Amino acid sequence: MTYKFTFSTNNNTMTGKYYLTVIILLIFVLFGVYPAGRKADRETLNLEEYFSPEEMDFIKANGIKSRDLEPYLKYQKFNVFKYYQYREAREKYNFSYLESLNYVNNPNYYRFYHNPQKALFAGAPHILVNKCYFLSEDYEPEGLVNAREYEIDYIVREGEEIYLKKEVLDSYQKMYDAAKAAGIELMIFSGYRDYEKQSVLYYQVYNQDDSISARPGFSEHQTGLALDISRPGDGLTLLFEQSPSFAWLMANGHKYGFILRFPPGKESITGYSYEPWHFRYVGAIAAEIREKNLTLEEYIFSNMEI
Ligand code: DAL
Ligand code: ZN
Repeated sequence: MTYKFTFSTNNNTMTGKYYLTVIILLIFVLFGVYPAGRKADRETLNLEEYFSPEEMDFIKANGIKSRDLEPYLKYQKFNVFKYYQYREAREKYNFSYLESLNYVNNPNYYRFYHNPQKALFAGAPHILVNKCYFLSEDYEPEGLVNAREYEIDYIVREGEEIYLKKEVLDSYQKMYDAAKAAGIELMIFSGYRDYEKQSVLYYQVYNQDDSISARPGFSEHQTGLALDISRPGDGLTLLFEQSPSFAWLMANGHKYGFILRFPPGKESITGYSYEPWHFRYVGAIAAEIREKNLTLEEYIFSNMEI
């Protein structure tokens, strides 16, 4: 007996069985075979596409499985020879794959002035300049504009102008307007500083005190993205922390891309004493940094390949 390959609606029971078989097969294909097929693909991942012959030798000699390598394959700086170091870091510190990669690939990430490297993400709003990542003496950010071009309050010191990157002052203007509408006073005390100016501050004003002043080349004021905000009566002192202005900035600054850069309790990560006046423009990532109570260092370490 043969199946009838017809859509007729007669009562032939074999035709009914045929349709049933087709439906079951369809269900099988949709819910069973397809994911199983994708799984099989994963298990038979062609590692040769990703790794050199030397790397393949290492993988085979150690019996490393495709599925253990797969989570790392999207990262440019994955080094298969460090696979066991990544795995150890993951297990020891409960790191994500990315964190384990960053940790092993950048042993000095949190070690102040220990073989420092060039600033990460130069030019981007989340550029990282700290005691491990520096800017060259001649680095000058693009797009600096004078605070005088905005309707904001800033301190006027003889022979000194306040410059910041345009994106920072554009956003600051919006923040300033919102603060003013809420009866809050904000004043910029300093913005962009070049290498030379930072040198004078570090050596002559702050007597090389590494807990309050960055060394020349290591200050994020040189990025044009950092600024000191306070009120005239408070200046750059801890008094500012008690002001409604500070409370307002803590509640709203992130909406405009600003974060408190050297918060209390994070000194071992930032390398600086608490500075309630020092804010940093980071753009869109500000909200997540604030919500998760992170420093810029921690955010970058856990979210970006470095
Ligand atoms: N006071 C901050 C850390 C600087 O000098 O950049
Ligand atoms: Zn500052």
